[in-house]
Amino acid sequence: MLDVARRFRPLPELHRFVDLVAAHGLNMLQLHLTDDQGWRFEVRRHPLLTEVGGRRSESQLGHGPDARGDGVPHAGWYTKDELRGLVRYASERGIRIVPEVDVPGHARAILAAYPEHGVGGAGAVRERVTEPWTRFGISDEVLNAEDATVAFVCDVLDEVCDVFESDVIGIGGDEAQKTRWREDPRTQELMAERGLADEPALQAWFLGRVAAHLARRGRRVIGWDEMLEGGGAPAPDAVVASWRGPVGAELGARLGHDVVLCPDLWTYLDYRQSDDPREPIPVGTVLSLEDVASFEPLSSASSAALRQHVIGVQANVWTEHLDTRERLDYAVFPRLGAFAEVAWNGGPLDWDDFAFRLPGYLAWLEEQGVDFRPLDGPRPEQQRPGVPGMPRDRAARIAELERLTADLDAPAAP
Ligand code: ACM
Repeated sequence: MLDVARRFRPLPELHRFVDLVAAHGLNMLQLHLTDDQGWRFEVRRHPLLTEVGGRRSESQLGHGPDARGDGVPHAGWYTKDELRGLVRYASERGIRIVPEVDVPGHARAILAAYPEHGVGGAGAVRERVTEPWTRFGISDEVLNAEDATVAFVCDVLDEVCDVFESDVIGIGGDEAQKTRWREDPRTQELMAERGLADEPALQAWFLGRVAAHLARRGRRVIGWDEMLEGGGAPAPDAVVASWRGPVGAELGARLGHDVVLCPDLWTYLDYRQSDDPREPIPVGTVLSLEDVASFEPLSSASSAALRQHVIGVQANVWTEHLDTRERLDYAVFPRLGAFAEVAWNGGPLDWDDFAFRLPGYLAWLEEQGVDFRPLDGPRPEQQRPGVPGMPRDRAARIAELERLTADLDAPAAP
């Protein structure tokens, strides 16, 4: 998965990325096309999504409390014809492009364009959301639960279906904060009318409506593991992308869903590659090349249900801090090489064997003009001195994941 919402990448770079992904024997590329910070997909019926949602006045530089704005406007989106071309180009190389439109959270770019779809009325939303988010993190803003908002999302997905042939369409579902829904009388009224007990049930209702619409178009949804909250997945054939440890994967499989494994501790290629303070804008836990090679998608602890239902693994490239093609290369390579071998052969890899072949792989990357991370750390131009990061400790992250997924341990039946 490549996040082109936080950072728009020009189309020729996407073609190049497809070439590189194909050369690694990978067969899917999810495009994260929308988020709080930007909307990158032309929608004819709702043109402000790109006109307004596709540009922001600046971006956060760095992470954590000391991060500030960079003062540099950022804009860009793909036309439907461009994306059709990309789908064809990828298909010729054995890659299916899976589009993702993230709802009901990660939606500030929608609200900047069409504030009537936010919580509290268009006027209030317009005051809170004047443009796509110039900061990074998890926003309180979410879509409202009006029928008109669901219909709007379905309109968008109709145009997505016109462009992308993929039988699976991403609908996000991650990190949707519940505060606005909880505090809004109109949302509470809608929940009561629909017999929904709580806000997680409302999220499940919302995603269920969207999934049903896609089902009528012959597509099924993939969503992040939060979509299992509030009473089960939005559709019987929904695919669960499990990113917050093993809990979502195990639960999804137990409920009969296909599962894609992308646990952040092993597959988030934006995470820092070492403890070296010279790592550019270090975020997340340390995920070294050797750590990726040690990824064990299925272990002796995995259930028979998960073994039956896992359909793949996925590496996620979030781009908050990857603002150029070179920085993207740095984050992705050579870690994608280890990931691809795990994807096909299972993991953990035999490190000695991988390390023996590594010089040949790095020479190949060099020939392709890839600005990969050298094994001994970033070159001077790959560093970001003075730009703050927010490194995480592994034990603290594991504890946080256990807390975040506690609700998934004892779900109601779908
Ligand atoms: C995610 O990392 N929010 C899926």
